Parts: sequence; structure tokens; C-alpha cells
Amino acid sequence: MAAAGELRFDDRAAIVTGAGRGLGNAYARLLAARGAAVIVNDRDRELAEGLAVEIEAEGGRAVADGSDVSTPDGAGQLIKTAVGEFGRLDVIVNNAGVVLREPITELSVDAIDRTIAVNLRGTLLVAHAAWPHLESAGHGRIVNATSASGLIGNPQASSYGATKAGIVGFTRVLAQEGQAVGIHANAISPLALTRMTDTLGIPGWTAETMGPGLVAPVVAYLAHEECELNGEVLSAGGGRVARYFVGLNMGWTSPGELRPEDVRDNLDSIVSLDDYIVPRTTVDELGLLDAGGKGGGDE
Ligand SMILES: NC(=O)c1ccc[n+]([C@@H]2O[C@H](COP(=O)([O-])OP(=O)(O)OC[C@H]3O[C@@H](n4cnc5c(N)ncnc54)[C@H](O)[C@@H]3O)[C@@H](O)[C@H]2O)c1
Repeated sequence: MAAAGELRFDDRAAIVTGAGRGLGNAYARLLAARGAAVIVNDRDRELAEGLAVEIEAEGGRAVADGSDVSTPDGAGQLIKTAVGEFGRLDVIVNNAGVVLREPITELSVDAIDRTIAVNLRGTLLVAHAAWPHLESAGHGRIVNATSASGLIGNPQASSYGATKAGIVGFTRVLAQEGQAVGIHANAISPLALTRMTDTLGIPGWTAETMGPGLVAPVVAYLAHEECELNGEVLSAGGGRVARYFVGLNMGWTSPGELRPEDVRDNLDSIVSLDDYIVPRTTVDELGLLDAGGKGGGDE
């Protein structure tokens, strides 16, 4: 990808959910500073209004929205506000999220339902309501917030981790469905000191070394129409930017019947990291079946 000028968002409209504080606040500020008209969404309306006023005072364009993205009415209202205010919609940053930490032995139905409602249902509802407008824009960009807790797991984060893994699957489906209409969807796995993480007391994490401002440029890049990535997960924190990926190794193919003992006896090949692909679509996995002489067919 060729390096060119500054990445600007003039004449573009963006929604950042959960933008009242933390990471979303930094994302909204940066997009506005780069010329975007921004809907600052947060269920805490006062915070959203405060940030919108600050952005406007700095010469940017922003409108506050207090919708709760976890409900169809809230997500619908949010999109309606954006299109009503700006007449278009180019970028969605699905950032709103909640974490309720509890070990699996103490997992409550309330924690499961609340986490799924905000993180997963909210992300799906907003993307779904925004889709026709992003399609009209011709270069829609969706950035969804995942987490290391979903990608690699974290103790005491079972419902949270489940939703964040679900967001990756959703992002990859959107990427494949959006390709034909110019919509790209990617996910950000951030690491930053915010209300969500400050009680964890992670050594070395300070506002300077791990601030949300060190994640925002990555989200702004993924939100830009020049961004060619689609269906990827970028990890960002402390100034480091990296790629998470799903790998699939060549595995081991049984020449005949497959018994549990065959799995035990061939485990080294089955879990080997010597030779693997990074599949883009399910067709790539079926191709490995073909390579093993089993024929993936064309399902
Ligand atoms: N901070 C990190 O290191 C980290 C790590 C991994 C993932 N994340 C993800 O990044 C995102 C932002 O995290 P943060 O650390 O800034 O958290 P935060 O708690 O500081 O901010 C989240 C914001 O979302 C808002 N919100 C919650 N539910 C909402 C709803 N239903 N509708 C609208 N707004 C709602 C909250 O009011 C809050 O202002 C989250 O999705 C989080 O899971 C953060």
C-alpha cells in the first residue's frame, strides 16, 4: 500500500458508540480532528453531550446521542440521528462495551444477558441498521471492538470473552458480505488504561504509556476509505500495532477409518505449527480436504 497524504475524513460522517469516555472518546476526538462529522453516542448522555460540546469548541462537528445500542429502538434511533443530522453515513465504530468479571462458578444470568446485550447484540443491531447507508456511501467502514479476552481468553471473563469472540465471527461475515458493495469490516483488539481496566492494576500501565490516544490512530486508519484491510483483527496498545489471525494447519488425514486412537497417535501432526494457512473463507479449509485426498466438494 502506497504512502500518500494525511488521512482525512472531510465530508464524511461517523458514529462512535460508547464515546463518552475511555477509548471511544479518543476515537471520536481523532475522527473529528481529521474532519469527520461525528455522532458521539453514549448511554450516559451527559458524557456524550460534554464531548460533543468540546469537539465543536475545537472547530469540529459533533452531535451527541444518548441511545442505548443494546436495544433495536436505540440502535435504530442512533442511525436515524446520524442520517438526519449529516445526511450520510460512512463509518461505524462499534465501541460500546461492558465487562462483568466473575469466575464461571459465580456466573449470573444477569451478567450473561447484559454482556451479550451490549457487546454482541448492540454491535449487530447498529451494523444492521447502518448497512444500507454504508452501502450508499460506496466505501463504508465498520470497526468493531473485540478483546484479547475473546481471542485468547482471560480468567473471570467468560460472558465478556464469549461476546468478544462472537464479534470477531460477526466481523468476518460482514467483511465477506460487504466486499461486493465496498464495505469493509475489521476489528480492533485494544489495550488501554480506561475505567474498564484501571481496577486491574496492570504493572507499567499509565495514562502516558497506555493511553487510549495510542489506540485511536489505528481505529482511524481502519475507518478510512483508503484502508484495504477487510476481515482483519488488529491489536493496538502502547504504540504497538499488530495482527491477530486464525491459522489452520495441514493436520493429519486418516487413510481409512478414523478411530479415537488415531487422534491420540497422530497428535503431534494434528497440533503442529510447522505448516499452516490463514484461511480467508471456508473454501480455503475445504481446499485442505482436497489436498488430503478427501475432496471438500463444493459445499
Ligand atoms: N480498555 C481496554 O484495554 C480494552 C481491552 C479490550 C477491549 N476493550 C473494548 O473497548 C471498548 C471500549 O472500552 P473502554 O475501556 O473505553 O471502556 P469504558 O468503560 O471506559 O467505556 C465504555 C463506554 O461505553 C458506554 N456504554 C456501555 N453500554 C452502552 C450502551 N448500551 N449504549 C451506548 N453506550 C454504552 C459506557 O457508558 C462507557 O462510556 C469496549 O468494547 C471494550 O470491551 C477495551
